[in-house]
Amino acid sequence: MSHSEHPFDAADLDFSPAQMASMGEDVLRRIVAHLQALPETPSRGTLEGCADLCRSLREPTPEQGAELDALLSPLFEEWIPRSFNTPHPGYLAYIPGGGLYPAALADFISATTNRYTGIWDAAPALVQLEANTLDWLRDWMQFPDTTRGLYTTGGSMAMFNAIACAREKLLGHNIRSGTLYVSTQSHHCIEKAAKLAGIAHDRVREIDVDAHYRMRVDVLQQQIAADRAAGLKPFMVFSTAGTTNTGAVDPMDAVANLCAREGIWHHVDGAYGAFFHMVPELRPLLAGLARADSLTLDPHKGLFMPYGIGALLVRDGEALRALHSSTAGYLPDNQSEFYDPAQYGPNLSRGFPGLRVWLSVKLLGAARFRAALAEKRTLAVEAAEKIAQIPGIVMDAEPQLSLFAFHLQSSALTTLDAQNAATRALMERITRRGKVMLTGAQVGERFLGRVCVLSFRTRREEMDICVQQMAEEAAAVLAEAAAK
Ligand SMILES: Cc1ncc(COP(=O)(O)O)c(C=O)c1O
Repeated sequence: MSHSEHPFDAADLDFSPAQMASMGEDVLRRIVAHLQALPETPSRGTLEGCADLCRSLREPTPEQGAELDALLSPLFEEWIPRSFNTPHPGYLAYIPGGGLYPAALADFISATTNRYTGIWDAAPALVQLEANTLDWLRDWMQFPDTTRGLYTTGGSMAMFNAIACAREKLLGHNIRSGTLYVSTQSHHCIEKAAKLAGIAHDRVREIDVDAHYRMRVDVLQQQIAADRAAGLKPFMVFSTAGTTNTGAVDPMDAVANLCAREGIWHHVDGAYGAFFHMVPELRPLLAGLARADSLTLDPHKGLFMPYGIGALLVRDGEALRALHSSTAGYLPDNQSEFYDPAQYGPNLSRGFPGLRVWLSVKLLGAARFRAALAEKRTLAVEAAEKIAQIPGIVMDAEPQLSLFAFHLQSSALTTLDAQNAATRALMERITRRGKVMLTGAQVGERFLGRVCVLSFRTRREEMDICVQQMAEEAAAVLAEAAAK
């Protein structure tokens, strides 16, 4: 029964087919207009005054409903624009996300058909589609058939599951003696995930990096030996395939060798960089990644998906299952032939993340993802070469993948503080011009400017603008410093 066929019935929460179609059209019209206008919108939305705005947005529960259009208008016109413009073609800040349109359609299908994909028995064919996509990730990463995977909400939760898995397999109940190793450049979410997984701060070791910001395997080895001598049990090392600060790729082969010798679980954080492994000619840049015991991937970065999807691959799929497998009287018996999400991950009821990947990859084909990734790398390399020529720019980290980092220096910028302030100003001035958005990172004592090319919408045009504005604004910042 629908609204249109009856007088108002407060308990009927459904909509008639005509209402659904019309509501959907309203939303779609706004979305298409929004995406069409993206290149003309500022690369970073207006954030001034947002604290006041947020205070004004606080409201009690609405007792009565409102018209859809009255809700969509401020959302699209006032609130969405007041945010980082993450899907903008000029978004070169942090690690860019994407937001492929077919993935959004998949989310809409998942939410409206609302099938239960937590257990295989409830939607076998749909769960199989998700399993297929995890097998695609496995194949792209050249992991073996023993691998099992899991979609998470992001890279951070993939780390959490990886740590829990390694901890369970290698430490059992003896958690307190276990030590875990990251580099000084590892993502902060690993330490957070470690804490969630029961590995306290005082059991996490930060290993120094070399001049290219890569983990020093000699220091790692010494630290492992020192911990063993102290009666502790080193159990897990994190390498990064593309750090957030500078894009550094750790020496994963050397770390894999060390971990194999020492009986330690080697996890690779490929949240930013792993998808470059899809491209055969770029694989040498990620040598050793395929040897990891487990790998974090972030489809909401390198596979251009909308936010909300990370992934974990575990070489010993049985270890992932051993961690999560459980049953209850109200559930069907566990079966082993088919992938069963609840047996490999912490969620029972869940969305259907695999459909995003399935629909996008089936619709576009893997070849186009490879082409896009290869292009992002080329754009970064070419832009870095040009930016390195700009007077005053010192390139601190060449692009190992598609991210590079640099700072400003001149005879007028005599102190580190002055150079840091100038580099900050450079990022901010370019961003304010509205065509590209750039952010930097504090790395030790130095503030580094960064450019990260990973949005599928970033093409040569945006990179040309980035290079040109970098030259103009660097000259302006240096001129101001010289005039002081
Ligand atoms: C290298 C790296 N690891 C982990 C993460 C955390 O991933 P997420 O934000 O998906 O939780 C990020 C996020 O930018 C990252 O760049």
